[in-house]
Amino acid sequence: DHKDLNVPANPYGTDIESVLISEEKLKQRIAEMAKRVSEEFKDAEEDLILVCVLKGAFYFLADFSRMLDIPTQSEFMAVSSYGNSTSSSGVVRILKDLDKEIEGRDVLIVEDIIDSGLTLSWLMRNLKNRNPKSLNVITLLRKPERLTTNIDMFDIGFDIPNEFVVGYGLDFAERYRDLPYVGTLEPHVYSD
Ligand code: XMP
Ligand code: MG
Repeated sequence: DHKDLNVPANPYGTDIESVLISEEKLKQRIAEMAKRVSEEFKDAEEDLILVCVLKGAFYFLADFSRMLDIPTQSEFMAVSSYGNSTSSSGVVRILKDLDKEIEGRDVLIVEDIIDSGLTLSWLMRNLKNRNPKSLNVITLLRKPERLTTNIDMFDIGFDIPNEFVVGYGLDFAERYRDLPYVGTLEPHVYSD
């Protein structure tokens, strides 16, 4: 992946430094991921439960789920990890839990980004304790340089450099989630 400094006009002025993953590339890769997941669960007896981890994964879930050709049910979970806004400590609190039980069900966690992997490790332990039939994870992005825990992933959209990224669900101070691509921020945004 390389940075494209030709940033499309967007509502955030000059805040976006570069486009790391274009809208086109996202769409293409997510379609591939959806094909793999559809194939894997095509003979399942019950609907696949997609667990979207809010807020970052909601655009990914929306696009990914509509590209699947198997029946699914979407569930939402919100967690907060203690620590500052750009890194996590692995100590997690549930802000919003699933609406239904997942015992005996096929469950797929849909994540936006794996950084240290601490948040996801915690979440997997938590959901495993509810005795699903199967528990898998897909993530759109991963920062392999930073990964401190070894997590078995069903699929990974893109490995990206260890840089803070925004867009396609990802935020800085709750902004930029609505950009249709994944990009990097100009340094002035952090320092202001
Ligand atoms: P861990 O380290 O537990 O953290 O894998 C994952 C969570 O950290 C946030 N995160 C980011 N958010 N741009 C973001 O907008 C980034 O580059 C970034 N890196 C980590 C995110 O909330 C993710 O779920
Ligand atoms: Mg965030």
